[in-house]
Amino acid sequence: MECFVLDKVRLILFSYQFEMKLVRKLGIPLIVTTLLTPLTGISFGRVFAGEVRVYSGRHYNTDRIILKRFYEETGIVPKLIETTDMSIIEKLKREGRNSKADIILLVDAARIHNAAKSGLLQSYRSPKLDKEVPEKYRDPKGRWYALTRRVRIMVANPKLVNVNEIKSYSDLAKPTLKGKVCLRKRNSPYNQSLVADQIVLKGEKGTKKWLKGMIKNVSEPYFPGDIALTRAVAQGICGIGLVNHYYVARMLAGLNGQRDKELAQKVKVITPNPAHVNVSAGGIAKYARNKQEAIQLLEYLVSPHGSKGLAGPTFEHPLNGFNRSKEVRNFGDVRPDKVTVSQLGFFNAKSIRFMAEAGWQ
Ligand SMILES: [Fe+2]
Repeated sequence: MECFVLDKVRLILFSYQFEMKLVRKLGIPLIVTTLLTPLTGISFGRVFAGEVRVYSGRHYNTDRIILKRFYEETGIVPKLIETTDMSIIEKLKREGRNSKADIILLVDAARIHNAAKSGLLQSYRSPKLDKEVPEKYRDPKGRWYALTRRVRIMVANPKLVNVNEIKSYSDLAKPTLKGKVCLRKRNSPYNQSLVADQIVLKGEKGTKKWLKGMIKNVSEPYFPGDIALTRAVAQGICGIGLVNHYYVARMLAGLNGQRDKELAQKVKVITPNPAHVNVSAGGIAKYARNKQEAIQLLEYLVSPHGSKGLAGPTFEHPLNGFNRSKEVRNFGDVRPDKVTVSQLGFFNAKSIRFMAEAGWQ
């Protein structure tokens, strides 16, 4: 306890000295350094109420906005450590008991499931978490909770395919789409989760049949990402493909530049009904040193305010309700299917096996 307090005092002193250096030597106004506080972990001009280290695979700059608000409301300083998802899991495994992670944020059901399975998260339940996160979007053992939702949609080129004939993922196996289907590589967890979803809904036999038919329709090499695939559909290289909805929304909003905006305007988005819904999720690190602060942040992020704060700028959907931006609204209503995130994780290994057997590269 003594050490903990001393650490805090040292950190405050260090923060103060560092900020004064910025103010004196660089001539940066105090207001700027104060704005930097939640991003740098430097506290100035307010009571220091602890810190929380966030390992995040949500590689969105806009997450800093909601973390800053959390700091302003609680005084707790979130220290954001971003990295790619797989390296977070590897990093945590490597760090073991010495890890400084307090809270872990990951995208995709398969990744958060694997983190829990590898013993990197600890169970924690509270009435608040149970109330804010619908049962299908949280771990039954309380090791992780969804924060935002994303939909696997289809993008089609109306010049190449009859968009009125395609309503569900099953339709991608129709012989009329021969040579027109494009897919992202098998190692993408987004598609692994979609296949896991279909295993729950169609059964093993039905999923194998669907995969066989869909893979037969593929003619182009497999794509490295959803944006590249959307571009290819727009350019007529592909007739139809599977992507997460927010990539298309971002392209439409011009966040990737004018060229991508124009390309996205050429594709027709088909939202299957019901749709496969995936999540980004968070949990408390196994060896969290600032557990109380981590709980506070997790409860903040799953609250309507927190979830909307994460989902709004990224065009994801919050936990409850849907993204109201004009780009996303144009994709049509979303009716999530009945599959739970936990089931997506459970069937991940099987889905990868089925994809490989069907020839999904
Ligand atoms: Fe993504």
